Amino acid sequence: MSCSIIYEDVSFTYPNGTDALHQVNLTLRHGEHVALLGPNGAGKSTIMLLSNGILKPNQGRIVVGDLTLTADTLKPIRQRVGLVFQDPDDQLFMTTVHDDIAFGPLNRGLSAGEVEQRVADALEAVSLTHLSAKAPHDLSFGQKKRIALATVLAMQPDFLILDEPSSNLDPRGRRQMMELIRSIPSTVLIATHDLDMAWELLPRTIIIDGGQVVADGPTRELLADEVLMISHGLELPAVVKYS
Ligand SMILES: Nc1ncnc2c1ncn2[C@@H]1O[C@H](COP(=O)(O)OP(=O)(O)O)[C@@H](O)[C@H]1O
Ligand SMILES: [Mg+2]
Repeated sequence: MSCSIIYEDVSFTYPNGTDALHQVNLTLRHGEHVALLGPNGAGKSTIMLLSNGILKPNQGRIVVGDLTLTADTLKPIRQRVGLVFQDPDDQLFMTTVHDDIAFGPLNRGLSAGEVEQRVADALEAVSLTHLSAKAPHDLSFGQKKRIALATVLAMQPDFLILDEPSSNLDPRGRRQMMELIRSIPSTVLIATHDLDMAWELLPRTIIIDGGQVVADGPTRELLADEVLMISHGLELPAVVKYS
C-alpha cells in the first residue's frame, strides 16, 4: 500500500517546558529511504515519537497516508507506522524471541497460522531463525537490535522508523544491520549519527538542529557540504574526509 507521512507546521513542547520542535514541515514519500541527522538534542527522537502518536503535537498536524493523526486514527496509524527504538531493551519484554515477535501479530487478532508465518518471515529477514527459542536477554546487543527490528517487521508496517540502528554495534553487526535496512521495501526514516551509513544507504537526508529543519536534500550533496555540516554540529563522513 502506498504511504506517505506529512508533518505540517508541527511544534512540540515537553511538559517540563522544553521546546523540542518548532514548525517542522516534512514530507516522506512512499518507498523513500531517508536519513534524519542532527546533533544531540536536535529533536530527532521527538519527531519519531510524534509519528505514531506516542507524543501529540502542540501545534500542526501529522498525516499518514490518507489519515490525519488524532485519537480516532491512532490505531490504524500505529498499524502503518513501525517504530524501532534505539535501545532494544525498550522493545523486547517476553521470555522468548519467538514470543516477542509473535506479540504484535497476536494482538492484532491474526490467526495462529498467520502469526507463525509472520514470525518465521521476520526471523528470516533478520537472519536469526536459529534464535527463535532463546531468551532475548541472553542475546548479544547486535542480535537484540535485529530482533527488535524483527518485532516491528512482523507487523508489516508501510513506514518504518529506526532510531540509531547502527549505534553500539561492532563492524560485523553494523554491516548486517545495513544490509538488512537496504533490503526493506517500505518507506524508511533513520535517525543516525552514522554518516557513512547515511552516505551508503539513504539517498535523501534531512538535517534538524534546535528543533527546526535546516536542510533537506540529496544525502551526497548535504554530507559533502563542510560549512553546512560543521555549523550544525556534524562532521564530514569518512568517505568524504579521506577522499
Ligand atoms: N522526556 C523529555 N522531557 C523533557 N525534555 C525532553 C524529553 N525528551 C527529550 N527532551 C528534550 O527535547 C529536545 C529534543 O530531544 P530529542 O528529540 O531526544 O533529540 P535527539 O533525538 O535529536 O537527540 C532536547 O532539548 C531534549 O533535552
Ligand atoms: Mg535521540
